[in-house]
Amino acid sequence: MTKAAPEAWRGRLWTWLDERVGLSELEKLARKKEVPAHRHTVWYYLGGMTLFLFGIQVATGILLLFYYRPSAEEAYESIQFLMAEVEFGWLIRSIHSWAANLMILTLFVHLWSVLLLKAYRPPREVTWFSGIGLLAVAMGFGFTGYLLPWNELAYFATKVGTEITGVVPAAGSFLRRLLRGGDEVTGATLTRFYGIHVAVLPALAFLLLGLHLFLVQKHGMSVPPSVERRGGAERAMPFFPNFLLRDLVGWLSALAILAALAAYFPTELGKKADPFAPAPAGIKPEWYFVFMFQTLKYLPSYILGIEGEVVGAVGFGLGGLFLLLIPLLDRRTARGEPSRLFTWIGIAIILYMALLTYLGYTASPTK
Ligand code: HEM
Repeated sequence: MTKAAPEAWRGRLWTWLDERVGLSELEKLARKKEVPAHRHTVWYYLGGMTLFLFGIQVATGILLLFYYRPSAEEAYESIQFLMAEVEFGWLIRSIHSWAANLMILTLFVHLWSVLLLKAYRPPREVTWFSGIGLLAVAMGFGFTGYLLPWNELAYFATKVGTEITGVVPAAGSFLRRLLRGGDEVTGATLTRFYGIHVAVLPALAFLLLGLHLFLVQKHGMSVPPSVERRGGAERAMPFFPNFLLRDLVGWLSALAILAALAAYFPTELGKKADPFAPAPAGIKPEWYFVFMFQTLKYLPSYILGIEGEVVGAVGFGLGGLFLLLIPLLDRRTARGEPSRLFTWIGIAIILYMALLTYLGYTASPTK
């Protein structure tokens, strides 16, 4: 074979694919894509990091599906089998649960950074809306996935979590029954959560993610107003390969952290759920729900004649709606004027979530 043969072969393959899928257009697009370089550029890596961790969730989730059985009789035992008998089964499960936590963390940091850098201003409102949709989907993944091992902690946390939906005015009891598949948390709830976790949420996630990434590609990265006021970014970095290689360094570091966490602190299974046993002390939801859980604990039984929990649930609903509508409410930012009020609102949201989460883990169980 001559030396030029592999190149000629590669050239022919390229031409063959190019004629059929339009590779040169993609290449042109990749070459044109740039990322503004300024002192806040570091925050641009958070979305990609979240995407990377989401990819890990999909891959490990599919592997778990090969062994998991979604029924009250078999779910716990199938995971016991996976952890004890299947080679590296424990590791895959541990990676799935650690990556879920890390993904929610990077997702929150991504959200807070786009909030404080006002990246939601026109024309990126829909990017923001799809992001809030992704946040809801990610929290839904966490909530439904937590029950799947059918262990004691998960069972009682789900009981408490679904109980809270019951206090929503008018639709509450319907919502609770819809989620539980009946009046109580039973095997029917498990089957339902399984369907939501492996079919409904992945479908929604792919739709929203497709829209989100399409819009990011369409509009390019935004330059924060503070940088714009100083005359814009000093320079632009080519996305391919400069930015992508930096992304890769971040992803490999995340993978190393993830592997260490999963191997040194493997996810436990605990005791099998027993619906007739008394609830163990100190039941807590996953850490990213703790700020809401703790807020409900602080509310008095009645506020102006309305049950405290109802006020709390409605309050969080309105809070979520406010977060969703921020791009439409922050008129000053939309007009290109400084908007201190929304900066302070952003900081207040972050501090509130951090403080209530801290109290959730440190305050006495009765408070
Ligand atoms: C699974 C969840 C998510 C994934 C995988 C994701 C992914 C990404 C990626 C890759 C980018 C481009 C790079 C970057 O700016 O970091 C981006 C940008 C953006 N994201 Fe997300 N995102 C998610 C959730 C969210 C959430 C919760 C919000 C806020 C509500 C949000 C709002 C935005 C906005 C406004 C931009 C444009 C930033 C700019 O132009 O400066 N995203 N996202």
